[in-house]
Amino acid sequence: MRSGYYPRVTVIGTGYLGLTHAVCMADLGHEVLAIDVDEMKIAKAAAGETPFFEPGLEPLLRKTLESGRLRFTTSFADVGAFGDVHFLCVGTPEGEAGHADLSFVYAAADSLAPHLTSECLVVGKSTVPVGTARQLLARVQAAAPAGDRVELAWNPEFLREGFAVQDSLNPDRIVLGVTSDWGAALLRLVYATPLAGGTPLLKMDLETAELVKVAANAFLATKISFINVIAEVCEAAGADVVPLAQALGHDARIGNRFLAPGLGFGGGCLPKDIRAFSATASALGVGSLINLLTTVDTINLGRRDRVISLAREAVGGELAGKRVAVLGVAFKPNSDDIRDSPSLDACDRLVAEGAIVSVHDPVAMPNAAKQRPGLHYAQSVSDAAAGADLVLHLTEWADYQAIDPAALAQVVAQQVIIDARCCLDATGWSEAGWSVRVLGRP
Ligand SMILES: NC(=O)c1ccc[n+]([C@@H]2O[C@H](COP(=O)([O-])OP(=O)(O)OC[C@H]3O[C@@H](n4cnc5c(N)ncnc54)[C@H](O)[C@@H]3O)[C@@H](O)[C@H]2O)c1
Repeated sequence: MRSGYYPRVTVIGTGYLGLTHAVCMADLGHEVLAIDVDEMKIAKAAAGETPFFEPGLEPLLRKTLESGRLRFTTSFADVGAFGDVHFLCVGTPEGEAGHADLSFVYAAADSLAPHLTSECLVVGKSTVPVGTARQLLARVQAAAPAGDRVELAWNPEFLREGFAVQDSLNPDRIVLGVTSDWGAALLRLVYATPLAGGTPLLKMDLETAELVKVAANAFLATKISFINVIAEVCEAAGADVVPLAQALGHDARIGNRFLAPGLGFGGGCLPKDIRAFSATASALGVGSLINLLTTVDTINLGRRDRVISLAREAVGGELAGKRVAVLGVAFKPNSDDIRDSPSLDACDRLVAEGAIVSVHDPVAMPNAAKQRPGLHYAQSVSDAAAGADLVLHLTEWADYQAIDPAALAQVVAQQVIIDARCCLDATGWSEAGWSVRVLGRP
């Protein structure tokens, strides 16, 4: 490695995780070269446009491009020649029987390895099953001209879409799975700024670092499914899950985050990560983990059934021919990500039962329209609700909490709303003449 320099960083895969990481690394002062196999994505990013919606990312992309510290390429030879530390940020989607599909990770490593001619560190950030890093290390060293002077570390990422920039610049912890003090020291240089700001660093072996990430996501998913089971109990008992969740959250041992009852989780991480962890548990013979995660998944998917059955009830038993306005298609607010979106799943079920569905979302409609061209996309909430027999609130954008229920009452056919995210002002909507049903509330 060149002495007297800060390590030069490359980022392989410029999706939600990789592009954010590349931009934030450059903002922290590093020289960064980012690569993707998707040439369109690279052309857009190089022109200062983010290929997805993430608050605060595009201005920072432009700033770091202008600084000259961030560049993009489609050449692995450039990446190999440039970097001291290569971050692997490619996707690990759900594959067969719930297993993580590692083909992108292996393809990226195979493309990079022949260009590693001198000492360097390959760092996995993608979420992978335990054991992947060690296999990858052997594979990369076998193919790299620099052989065992190439080391590997695992540095799982915990950013949240919607808060990705702040989470990357100020992570609440940095987890490093390393095989040598040299690798740890190099990553300490890369993360010098957040470490100086007090971010805790936790150093461990490769296997433990891989497991930290999937265990964290399994815990978060379990917390959401737990409160949703309690929501079912509340409905059966005539109790109210919203004040119940608030009261639980005040207990510091429980905490109020990831305790929002409603339609449950979706997106490109939690669902596929708990299924992949369950597949790992099966391979390791840990039956209790399979039971736990299967139950968490089943409870979560059950929320989608519940909202459809409430929708049926709300329109008098039959959805066929009814006009339904759906508010929100992103899997969560402040994102245009529609991967495993509970809302889009609900739309599919409504359409399957013959409902006429009109959807609105502040930013995710272009992505949804590519996947579900058959839905009607409305440019405003009132266009979506025009003539509706039912309004479904499925993604908790702040914009929807600011809707004036009296104004919306003017355009619908029936004043009936289901709040599947338990966050609208139910009293205000009722006072404006709406029949309001909230998941988990009497
Ligand atoms: N999105 C998140 O919030 C988040 C948070 C933490 C961890 N993760 C994990 O990070 C990983 C990436 O997730 P994502 O949401 O960014 O996925 P993504 O699909 O948005 O991005 C993956 C990118 O990798 C590129 N790619 C695929 N094969 C490649 C190759 N051989 N060489 C170079 N680029 C290649 C794709 O074109 C794509 O742009 C996953 O393992 C995910 O579980 C994601």
